[in-house]
Amino acid sequence: MKKLTVNIEVDKYDLIIEKDIFKKIGKEVAKVYNNKKISVITDENVYEIYGEKLKENLTKTGFELDIIVVKPGEASKSLDVLGEVYKRLLSFNLTRGDLIITFGGGVVGDLGGFAAATFLRGIDYIQIPSTLLAQIDSSIGGKVAVNLAEGKNLIGNFYHPKKVIIDPNLLNTLEDKYIKDGLGEVIKYACIYDENFFNQLCSINSQNELFENIEDIIFTCCNIKKNVVEEDLKDKGIRMILNFGHTFAHGIEKSTNYKYGHGEAVSIGMYNITKRSEELGLTKPGTSQKIKDILNNFNIEHRLPSIVVEGILNSIKYDKKNISGFINLILLEKIGKVTIKKIKFEEINSFLGKNLVKKNIVLIGMPGCGKSTLGKEISKKLNKTLIDMDTYIEENEKRTIKEMFSENENVFRDAESKYSIELSSKNSQIIATGGGIVKRKENISQLRNNSIIVFINRPLENILSDIDTETRPLLVDGKKNLEKLYNERFNLYKEYCDIEIENVGGISDVADKIIELLLDHERNSSDLK
Ligand SMILES: NC(=O)c1ccc[n+]([C@@H]2O[C@H](COP(=O)([O-])OP(=O)(O)OC[C@H]3O[C@@H](n4cnc5c(N)ncnc54)[C@H](O)[C@@H]3O)[C@@H](O)[C@H]2O)c1
Repeated sequence: MKKLTVNIEVDKYDLIIEKDIFKKIGKEVAKVYNNKKISVITDENVYEIYGEKLKENLTKTGFELDIIVVKPGEASKSLDVLGEVYKRLLSFNLTRGDLIITFGGGVVGDLGGFAAATFLRGIDYIQIPSTLLAQIDSSIGGKVAVNLAEGKNLIGNFYHPKKVIIDPNLLNTLEDKYIKDGLGEVIKYACIYDENFFNQLCSINSQNELFENIEDIIFTCCNIKKNVVEEDLKDKGIRMILNFGHTFAHGIEKSTNYKYGHGEAVSIGMYNITKRSEELGLTKPGTSQKIKDILNNFNIEHRLPSIVVEGILNSIKYDKKNISGFINLILLEKIGKVTIKKIKFEEINSFLGKNLVKKNIVLIGMPGCGKSTLGKEISKKLNKTLIDMDTYIEENEKRTIKEMFSENENVFRDAESKYSIELSSKNSQIIATGGGIVKRKENISQLRNNSIIVFINRPLENILSDIDTETRPLLVDGKKNLEKLYNERFNLYKEYCDIEIENVGGISDVADKIIELLLDHERNSSDLK
């Protein structure tokens, strides 16, 4: 046998953190790059604020530039945009000895880094991250990627830059919501790795104080990520601790159509998983309260919206990180000390699901207003079961509503009251009620115990144009009766609902709007745990 051992040494590179270093960017680049040509990849927002300054500084240093400006946002991390980037690199005649600079947030860093990793089998690149998230997280560790329609970051690689140049002052122009995205990750580092850092963050009381300390904060975060990444370059082991809070976060982001920012979703995840692990005796008592306090301090959400619980459980089931029926949950033993718990899929519901607030969504409104159709659509989007209350009553009473009505209306109304009690003891269902549920106020009071009540308000002329009166007992006299019922009940629907939505437009859009209103309602209600 003959044997050769191939030693593959991974390069070293520096991360420089300094306020206003951007003003001497040409000099910094020249320290690691001797050729002339540079393709800069950035996005429209960053280019608008800093493009000219960057151009001026780099050309003054003697570099020849092509600046590729993509649209801001996640959609630019696509194969289509990547294709356009390759074309520009080619038409600029960029060679293997030349350089790419990614200048922007995580989107530009991931896209540009992947272009650098793959163009001509890989050319050098420098990262100039300009969001807090990019400065403390995405620019370190060498993960580069683009998305597929089927999921995020599905095409990617590990490819480290020649240098990362971090100017905290670039954050002065960053929108508050993106600062919060980064802060969620800052707090995560403190939770998993460094109790002193956590306490230091707790003592920060204003945005000003945050910015006064930002250079140190960025340094500490980068140092933690560096240490973790060095131990696990290819994300096969310990690096998974960086996913603390992310198990919930991906589910929250997906099932709310990305209405919650990433950092906010991670924060909700960190708090809720810690609360649960504390209940199970796996975490030192008081830890979740500390996380809640620090999030409150930075005005970041910690409450889990009840309507996304199934979405979270579902997203965990299909997470690509799950291996042969097991999932690794990242938990805290206490602030600063992380632990990994491997649990079976089947146990995930009872592990996470217990004690999570799971309200029902009750749809009220006129016959023909779209409760069943919208109910189906929302149930699909939120992974919840839909109960059509009329069908439920018929199945349980073993006779049709028409038969009950033929005896007298009260027989049916009594059944409605009985099943309002039964259904209000369920969790996480979507309940499409019959149009007359509001005739007895106690039905609504009963359902309200564990539900959010949504009034589907569809204009009368739209209902009249396509309702089938044959199957509706109170409408057997024809459509004129509908108008009378509408006038009788309209104010009751309005009075009893928590949320009102006008059902005009496409079903999917109206369902999305309802989900958005439900989330707003949950955010504004004080009874979330
Ligand atoms: N590679 C990794 O290890 C890693 C880790 C975490 C996240 N990510 C990826 O990072 C991406 C998210 O990154 P992000 O949060 O930075 O989002 P982003 O890149 O979309 O930037 C957020 C917004 O801020 C704007 N912006 C950037 N810098 C600015 C500045 N200085 N002033 C004003 N506006 C500015 C951008 O134009 C954009 O609108 C996701 O695609 C995620 O998958 C990657």
